[in-house]
Amino acid sequence: MTAESDVTSDTFQFKLLATDGKARRGAISMPRGTIRTPAFMPVGTGGTVKAMYMDQVEDLGADIILGNTYHLMLRPGAERVAKLGGLHEFGRWQKPILTDSGGFQVMSLSALRKINEQGVTFQSHIDGSRHEMSPERSIEIQGLLDSDIQMQLDECVRLPAGETEIERAMEMSLRWADRCKVAFGDQPGKAMFGIVQGGDVPKLRERSAEGLSSLDLKGYAVGGLAVGEPQEVMLDMLDVICPLLPAEKPRYLMGVGTPDDMLKSVGRGIDMFDCVMPTRAGRHGLAFTRHGKINIKNARHAEDHRPLDEESSCPAARAYSRAYLHHLVRSNEILGMMLITWNNLSYYQDLMSGIRAAIAAQRFDDFSAETQERWAKGDI
Ligand code: GUN
Repeated sequence: MTAESDVTSDTFQFKLLATDGKARRGAISMPRGTIRTPAFMPVGTGGTVKAMYMDQVEDLGADIILGNTYHLMLRPGAERVAKLGGLHEFGRWQKPILTDSGGFQVMSLSALRKINEQGVTFQSHIDGSRHEMSPERSIEIQGLLDSDIQMQLDECVRLPAGETEIERAMEMSLRWADRCKVAFGDQPGKAMFGIVQGGDVPKLRERSAEGLSSLDLKGYAVGGLAVGEPQEVMLDMLDVICPLLPAEKPRYLMGVGTPDDMLKSVGRGIDMFDCVMPTRAGRHGLAFTRHGKINIKNARHAEDHRPLDEESSCPAARAYSRAYLHHLVRSNEILGMMLITWNNLSYYQDLMSGIRAAIAAQRFDDFSAETQERWAKGDI
């Protein structure tokens, strides 16, 4: 039998395979591979998923990874990556790559940033050099990287913020979506997604979702969430946005999240996620398992013979004692970060695979409740 993920298509296509309530199971097919949705995209900011070999990332079942325009344009430079054969060749990952457009990272990482209708100007956090990025240049860079799914340049406002400020950024992001669409042009095997903004104001979210839908893009992201607001606000916004997005296009919730966030968002119609949480937490000794989170640095693990999860599909979770992982992390050993990152990404990919199977079997709500119950018991 051919696995869904082995199928490719000359053109970017999204197929809805099953729905269960608002939860959707689907497949995005494109020349470099098929992405089974709901999907979690490991974050590979600078051409590497930190502390992981690309072979491991693939073996865990990831169909797509994320790269960052901001980091790669500064180092090693987009033109240089293009000269070296593109990001897939450079980083040895042949499946699809989605790149974020840069605006969000400029606002959180760079210095002396200025944003206006033309685009953003900023100073690199690496060497202080000055840069400009317009919506057109962001798409050009993502093309030089040879990204398969490109994101429009947008402005994400941190919450809490005033309504006037949120509205200004949302309206400008809509105009930038239009400019990015023109700059991207007609590339049948690739896609450019728009990003819904509008903060925590339902009517602004509606305006953004409707404005972007009328641009008839190949997919839609929801941005500006998980930026300091309570989870309830994020979920309320998804309840407003998802019904306004076209059902036959993929929906990507940017920068989210915890397993609980993802379950609740899938239940509202989200298809794709990315988050630094499993990789970043892994480098700090925080392990995700079916039974909840384990802070392996805690002294209570110092003589614990048990592995993280004897039933996991990941060797990092099965073959090493918690005592050994505790020792590695306490000693700042690189292997500690590698093993816990491996475990965490494995947990995230297994969770998505469980979600997809549950939707196919029409038991997503039960799956979601069971997963959350196990976490709540914290039987670890
Ligand atoms: N990553 C997380 N949130 C956002 C957002 O609002 N915009 C962009 N471009 N990237 C994000």
